[in-house]
Amino acid sequence: MDTLFLSRLNSAATDLERLLDELLKPSGGHGEGRLIEAMRYASLGGGKRLRPFLVIETAALFSVDRSRALMAGAALECVHCYSLVHDDLPAMDNDTLRRGRPTVHTAFDEATAILAGDGLLTFAFDILSRTGTHPDPAIRIELISGLARAAGVDGMAGGQMLDLAAEGRFIEGTPASTEAEIARLQSMKTGALLRYACLAGGMLGQAAPDQRKALGRYGSALGQAFQIADDLLDVEGSAALLGKSTDKDAAAGKATLVGLLGVSKARERLNALVRQAEAALEPFERGAPMLIAAAHFIAERRN
Ligand code: IPE
Ligand code: IPE
Ligand code: MG
Ligand code: MG
Ligand code: MG
Repeated sequence: MDTLFLSRLNSAATDLERLLDELLKPSGGHGEGRLIEAMRYASLGGGKRLRPFLVIETAALFSVDRSRALMAGAALECVHCYSLVHDDLPAMDNDTLRRGRPTVHTAFDEATAILAGDGLLTFAFDILSRTGTHPDPAIRIELISGLARAAGVDGMAGGQMLDLAAEGRFIEGTPASTEAEIARLQSMKTGALLRYACLAGGMLGQAAPDQRKALGRYGSALGQAFQIADDLLDVEGSAALLGKSTDKDAAAGKATLVGLLGVSKARERLNALVRQAEAALEPFERGAPMLIAAAHFIAERRN
């Protein structure tokens, strides 16, 4: 793997960890102390921090202050961590291991995990509304509305609903089963937040419309690729490296392209999406090498 990419990803993760640690100050001893502890447990000390990295690197294309990109990245990471806490709940994927540690509802309790998710989701919008994210309120509103839409009914939350429905849990509706339906489900549950990560840099940098379109195309391809890679890792990956359980999706009846097409066709789709992501970056001068490396990392990652 590209060593420059890995060192940039690592420094984004270090800076993000420091900022989140500062933003999520432990509060003193009252009932809400347990809630803050659970929010810190859910968001600190783990994760690849790929979404904040994408905010930082897309923002860097427009020479945005790193501190602003980090604030927007921290907000997005809060939403991502909340989505993981709720995804792991017994009522959803029922997982006990996340980022190499017990899941939040296992380490604390279910009610605390639900509230920690609520706390992280709402905190994201608190962060985005601060002047440290951007002094121009119009840009802050654009960031807020973009994240709300990416996380909501037409994005992550809606996609998670389709993911559960595809298990055949609910009576109404037709569960996603064709390739196009699964691709749509995945572009909502996973793609929307990754696409937002790429668009946020353009919002912070007041990118031109054609540059925003290019970032959107790149982010969509990356988002689809990311979930195919995740589904391949469920079948082929190592739980020790991943820090989460494997071999769960087929047993749970999850609708995945790996399940529908098999491992080798799914990997072909993944590679095609990486090429699509690369092609989307053509309008950028010097070719955005960190973003190209990110697409390859997503396809080749082991964790
Ligand atoms: C896992 O996301 C959840 C999916 C969207 C598939 P990541 O693989 O980015 O998880 P962390 O943040 O690195 O733990
Ligand atoms: C999760 O997809 C997507 C989210 C929105 C959190 P998965 O359920 O496959 O993610 P993992 O495998 O538990 O990380
Ligand atoms: Mg899930
Ligand atoms: Mg899951
Ligand atoms: Mg998975």
